[in-house]
Amino acid sequence: MPGKYLNGELYRPSHIHYRVTEQNSKELISQIYFKGDPHIEEDPWASQKKASLRILQISPEDINGNLSIHFDIYLQEK
Ligand SMILES: [Fe+2]
Repeated sequence: MPGKYLNGELYRPSHIHYRVTEQNSKELISQIYFKGDPHIEEDPWASQKKASLRILQISPEDINGNLSIHFDIYLQEK
């Protein structure tokens, strides 16, 4: 899991920033969060309604102890 860090007096929820580029599509820069993180409600970005589809459920550990998420990214044509 990604770590947490302070943003002023509040901790940001665990998240992963990502940037996706493809020559025929608009660039996408965003971040994903993880369900159950207690810092989501107070975070100015993760608490926005438009972020709700980017708060993802983590699958239980597999037999090797790995965690996983499923997240489809769709790019918009230029
Ligand atoms: Fe960050």
